[in-house]
Amino acid sequence: MKIAFLNPQGNFDRTDAYLTEHPDFGGQLVYVKEVALALGRLGVHVDVLTRRIRDPQWHGFEDDIDDFGELADRVRIVRLPCGGDSFLAKERLWPHLPEMADAIVSFYGDQAPDFLTAHYADGGFLAACLQVRLGVGFTLTGHSLGAQKLDKLAGGGQSFEELEPRYRFAQRIAAERLAMARAARVITSTTEERLGQYGHALYRGAIDTSNDARFRVIPPGINTEIFHADAGKDDPAVLNRLRRMVRDPARRHVVVASRLDPKKNVAGVVEAFCVSPELADGAHLALFVRGVDDPWQGIDALRADEQAVLQPILERVRAAGLEDRVSFVNARSQRELAAAYRLFAASGSVFALPSLFEPFGLAPIEAAACGLAVVATRNGGPSEIFADGAGLLMDPEDPAAMAQAFVEGLNQHAELAAKGVERVLSTYTWDKTAKVYLDTISAASKEPLPAIEDGIPPLDASERIQAYLAG
Ligand code: F6P
Repeated sequence: MKIAFLNPQGNFDRTDAYLTEHPDFGGQLVYVKEVALALGRLGVHVDVLTRRIRDPQWHGFEDDIDDFGELADRVRIVRLPCGGDSFLAKERLWPHLPEMADAIVSFYGDQAPDFLTAHYADGGFLAACLQVRLGVGFTLTGHSLGAQKLDKLAGGGQSFEELEPRYRFAQRIAAERLAMARAARVITSTTEERLGQYGHALYRGAIDTSNDARFRVIPPGINTEIFHADAGKDDPAVLNRLRRMVRDPARRHVVVASRLDPKKNVAGVVEAFCVSPELADGAHLALFVRGVDDPWQGIDALRADEQAVLQPILERVRAAGLEDRVSFVNARSQRELAAAYRLFAASGSVFALPSLFEPFGLAPIEAAACGLAVVATRNGGPSEIFADGAGLLMDPEDPAAMAQAFVEGLNQHAELAAKGVERVLSTYTWDKTAKVYLDTISAASKEPLPAIEDGIPPLDASERIQAYLAG
């Protein structure tokens, strides 16, 4: 069996050098890489198809054919032309995806893969273009859907015309509709994602969320070689570096490792910390900020959008007089992140995921695997992951309730940590994820392709979106 992953945005390298440094280098790339490698371990041949980037500011993506440094005989990264050599943000890729589809067809010639798995709207559009040309079916994994992002941004008062130049919802939502209608299966991480997110009015007529035959819920997993609770394996030099960043490593902490993005609501945790004497008296706060060791001195090293999130946080902490209770941790890799989680787990700390909405929630299961007690947003995936009580849920828009949940999490640390490790290892590993992907793809690859009557329609959902926004 040979499976091609379609992931035009971002890019892949052996060391994940850019992970979290740009919005297109985040959880989706981890997901694609880990499922690809886990399928490789099952004996499947996998190509991860992505954009070719030859940009002096984005080193590491120059080779057309590459690998992840393991299973290289089975799992390849294949970089193909798509809109020139410079790095392009995912919203800028739309006009260039047909070029990439042509390049994929030429690359394979008469050796097409047996099946495609498409990631995000851009990968979904590519898959819809390739389905007939390669004569193979595809699964769609949306990761994050445009309709929910549009709701959030439009709810903040911006009009469609204001949002469109940056976000390209007209193309994204049209591509999502096309891909969901033509995919053999839509893969979601949770049932809520299937029913809630794909059930959005903007997807009506493209997919029926009550049809079990169209969906497969497959939770993602964690890399258990990196995220585990055995602190004995940690490199002492890394631990020393991490300890130096933490004001009092023996203290219990509320740990936050979310990106500096408004929707991740890091400010919510800071607010909870500042308004709750019970919390601030008993615990410290650890905020992971990648790219700078001391934001008090060096916030300028961060991108402008990150500074816009962090500056008010620094001001809030200063106004509350809590500077000596807040540490910033600059973990430079997944391995350092995991070592830091274990360091905080040793002092009985909790991991906070305060997102206003979280489609799945890989970060809290990674943290749980390292022995942290988890307190996560009740909005989205965590409500299913922690439905069994292996983590606590909180309302991310209520600082007092969040503070209360953190206090409970700290008090119940030992019990929550034990339940969390058990929950993750029994349910959320990439090997389990890949096994279900393979079962799903094996079944779908035996089915006939859908009869496609209208070729690839123009990607433009603007009228539909405007009618929706007009109510
Ligand atoms: O990993 C980060 C990421 O997963 C993207 O790659 C993903 O596609 C995105 O987050 C969320 O996208 P958006 O904000 O466009 O909905």
